[in-house]
Amino acid sequence: MKKIKWILIVAVLFFGASQLLASNLETFKQRRKILSEKMGKGIGLVFAGSEVNGITEEFVVNPDFYYLTGIADEPGAILLLAPGEIRRKEILFLESRDPEDERWTGERLSIGEMLRKETGFYYIYRTNRLAGFLDRLLNNTNILCVLSRPVGYTSSVPKDLEIFRQIQSRRLNVDVKDCTFLITGMRLIKSPEEISLMKKAIAITKAGLMKVFKNVKTGMIESDVQILLENTFRENGAKNLAFSSIVATGHNTTVLHYTKNNAEIEKGDLLLLDVGAEYKHYAADVTRTIPVSGKFSPEQRKIYELVLKAQNEAMKKVKPGILIDEVHETARKVIEDAGYGDYFIHGTSHFIGIEVHDVGDYDKPLKPGMVISVEPGIYLPNKDIGVRIEDDVLVTEKGFELLTKEIPRDPDELEKILQAK
Ligand code: GLY
Ligand code: MN
Ligand code: MN
Repeated sequence: MKKIKWILIVAVLFFGASQLLASNLETFKQRRKILSEKMGKGIGLVFAGSEVNGITEEFVVNPDFYYLTGIADEPGAILLLAPGEIRRKEILFLESRDPEDERWTGERLSIGEMLRKETGFYYIYRTNRLAGFLDRLLNNTNILCVLSRPVGYTSSVPKDLEIFRQIQSRRLNVDVKDCTFLITGMRLIKSPEEISLMKKAIAITKAGLMKVFKNVKTGMIESDVQILLENTFRENGAKNLAFSSIVATGHNTTVLHYTKNNAEIEKGDLLLLDVGAEYKHYAADVTRTIPVSGKFSPEQRKIYELVLKAQNEAMKKVKPGILIDEVHETARKVIEDAGYGDYFIHGTSHFIGIEVHDVGDYDKPLKPGMVISVEPGIYLPNKDIGVRIEDDVLVTEKGFELLTKEIPRDPDELEKILQAK
């Protein structure tokens, strides 16, 4: 009887896990389907990239490739979409296996049922077959769809455009189409599933910040605080940071992208933490500025309250139809009217998603499903006072949802938490 019970439990767990895998794969499949519908008869390529990070050469996948495949561990992989085809509408090309490389980076799967199941792709080939397939597909269509994002004219040419240009110089009647906004347009509007991943990244970020609020003391080094924070992120399920943590005390609070994190917290200092956990490829981006001693000085509080007012006013603007510039202008006006215009030296908002500075179109009105930061700040280097307050906001049908509302920012509440140590 006991044995049957165990078999049942294992079966339920296995079934549950495979359902989960299937539903995840379905999400990515659905995204490819939507994109393909927008591409018409054009052929498109999306590259996983081969950028690596650090000594262990951790691979950083191109977010567009991840968004469409859910695959984050195949450097060099290529997604080919050919929606006009009857059979091979989508093909996944993977780098060939290399037994010597695999001794360094671990074993990979050969092409077969297991790999098909894991990736959700039926047609999988090695990347050396790409050229042959492109030639073949071009017998059925002459439209090539550039899916990569536009880059500055001094940047290197995006890979898909480069390949399409090569084809163009060798074949007549090839039509290279601008599809550069298709993926961005999709990534800009977050699905409920994506929002819940972002909420989880935010919950982890909250855990890290609360840990700091409850343990930070004068005399600690900024990096001690950083370790406490980032360990808490990891304990709570974050594998990576959304970006390098900014942990700045005293004068350093006035340095916008301070990342040395090696100064000692002195009596009366403010501590600015601009931090974010990443959860399953989605970012959080939160800034809190706290008085380590447990009490803001009158001047620190005055600046803090002004930034908070600017942030609240700006946030209230967020709704469908508004330009991101209007959110910024609102925050600017509050700060300018109080005489601190020259000390607010950055923008107020950016899009957030898979990337902390996510893709987006700053010239188009906001729409439901977009997630932006609202992060005004005032920096007074001569007074060692830098205050930034940053929250993540979801645009909804009626206005906005403050995704980071559980992370305290009211100055009285912050003082209370800090004094409770
Ligand atoms: N942490 C980067 C930013 O706030 O934009
Ligand atoms: Mn930000
Ligand atoms: Mn930030």
